[in-house]
Amino acid sequence: MRSINRLRILIEKYGLLALSKMSLRHLRSKIVKYRVKFSKVIFFYLWDKPIIEIFNHIFRIDISKILITVNANQAWPARVNAQLEVFGSFSNPISCLEIGVWFGKGSTSNLLKVLPSGSTLISVDKWEPYASELDKKTSEMDYLSTLAAHSALNVFSTPNRSSGNRNIEKVLVKADSVTLMKKLSEESFNLVYIDGSHYYPKVSQEIEHTKRIVKRNFAIISGDDLEVLPNEVNLLEAAEHLDQDFYNGYHPGVLLAVGEAFVEVNMVNGFWWVYCKNGKFTTKI
Ligand SMILES: C[S@@+](CC[C@H](N)C(=O)[O-])C[C@H]1O[C@@H](n2cnc3c(N)ncnc32)[C@H](O)[C@@H]1O
Repeated sequence: MRSINRLRILIEKYGLLALSKMSLRHLRSKIVKYRVKFSKVIFFYLWDKPIIEIFNHIFRIDISKILITVNANQAWPARVNAQLEVFGSFSNPISCLEIGVWFGKGSTSNLLKVLPSGSTLISVDKWEPYASELDKKTSEMDYLSTLAAHSALNVFSTPNRSSGNRNIEKVLVKADSVTLMKKLSEESFNLVYIDGSHYYPKVSQEIEHTKRIVKRNFAIISGDDLEVLPNEVNLLEAAEHLDQDFYNGYHPGVLLAVGEAFVEVNMVNGFWWVYCKNGKFTTKI
């Protein structure tokens, strides 16, 4: 008993009482947190080193999936088939604009798989933090943007990567989507895919410019993260939560921008698209 008391006095004296009171669960959660942080530092360091490429090549697994908590491929499996089908609608060479490249492993890779040979793919990403004040605490994407840009550059500078032997001209632009779109000519694209910032002001401007730059006789406008189709109720709710990327199971900015821009759109598991036919927007091909 005396030795226990002595131990307690020692702990208090050296300020370790707080530690002795810390629950095991709390301690464990701290260890997990720092382990994740540590692996991210290692990942950052190794990202563009050949060792990562070799590891990926030998084990056929994407190491980014193990080391970082945000998915490097943001084309969710449930959406991939619809994406491939819609992106693959063309049999002649086309001009395609992709907004939001991230690591170049999702939509970019899907576009490269199915665009006809001779097509041009212009992909734009800002790769800068863009989370709102409210989202900052939880957004992990913001601090991965440099890493994502490196990965995308790798995809775009490797000839024929993901596009088999088909000849796709790939143009990668680091810019704000709207800044770039302002410079693009009317009726110059057959296909546009919108998956950049999901906040309303940006998405609505992107859609406005898209309507101007797509070919009037026939084009496809598509995008990501429309988990529910717009209706009178959710449009009102969305308008109340525009400072959040994600709310109540959907992206309010995307929902409102799409709902305002089109009477109707097609949607499969969050991937949405609409056809422009003779200047009219329609869900039927
Ligand atoms: C959801 S990720 C794109 C995912 C990608 N399409 C895929 O399938 O993996 C969104 C991307 O949009 C980019 N972004 C955000 N705001 C942007 C803006 N104003 N202009 C251009 N890109 C932007 C981000 O840097 C991020 O890489």
